[in-house]
Amino acid sequence: MEKSSSNFLTGKIRKRYDRIAPLYDFLDKVSVPHWMRKKAVNLAFGAVLEVGVGTGLNLPLYPENCDVTAIDFSPEMLQRARLRAEKMSIQVELMQMDVQDLDFPDNSFNTVLASCVFCSVPDPILGLKEVRRVCKNDGKIILLEHMRSENYVLGLMMDLFNPLVSRIIGNNINRRTLENVRKAGLCIENVENLKGDIFKLIVASP
Ligand SMILES: C[S@@+](CC[C@H](N)C(=O)[O-])C[C@H]1O[C@@H](n2cnc3c(N)ncnc32)[C@H](O)[C@@H]1O
Repeated sequence: MEKSSSNFLTGKIRKRYDRIAPLYDFLDKVSVPHWMRKKAVNLAFGAVLEVGVGTGLNLPLYPENCDVTAIDFSPEMLQRARLRAEKMSIQVELMQMDVQDLDFPDNSFNTVLASCVFCSVPDPILGLKEVRRVCKNDGKIILLEHMRSENYVLGLMMDLFNPLVSRIIGNNINRRTLENVRKAGLCIENVENLKGDIFKLIVASP
């Protein structure tokens, strides 16, 4: 993607998340079951980077031995994560940053985790390459993501409704995230279907 159009799109999507931030926790209740988050976050260890932390719904779920840094490009989402962390006395370093251009050295984290993020990152392959770069060679990349169904009819419906959904809430319902993970060069260790073939838990290494 050309840099100027990518910057324009990034700004546009950031604004959408700023706009829906006050409603996000409510919308989440009907879309991402708590047990899925727990299952993903339980796999984290050591120095953790959570990308696209949103309002911080995963923060209370990290195992005690984790040292968590979390980023998001939306100041409004991040502000809610900050309030949640303060209210629940959770130790976390929160930073405003774009996953497509992470400000961390190579091989910085034992775990990089994202939940429902690569459906909205403007250039998901670039973002996943950044995730790969900052993850240690023996580290883990944990992705809890929804994606386009392989079912012919469902997949077509997702294509059909995607323009409307992405305009309203900022994420794409028809991203081929598993394919993007491969294209970014990540080494996939396990893929588990959590809700049909739409919600998947992907465990990968750099
Ligand atoms: C659907 S929300 C998921 C939030 C959170 N991970 C969760 O599970 O509740 C997607 C989040 O990714 C963030 N995001 C999207 N593109 C991003 C980017 N390029 N860099 C950083 N954050 C991004 C959005 O601001 C939003 O907070």
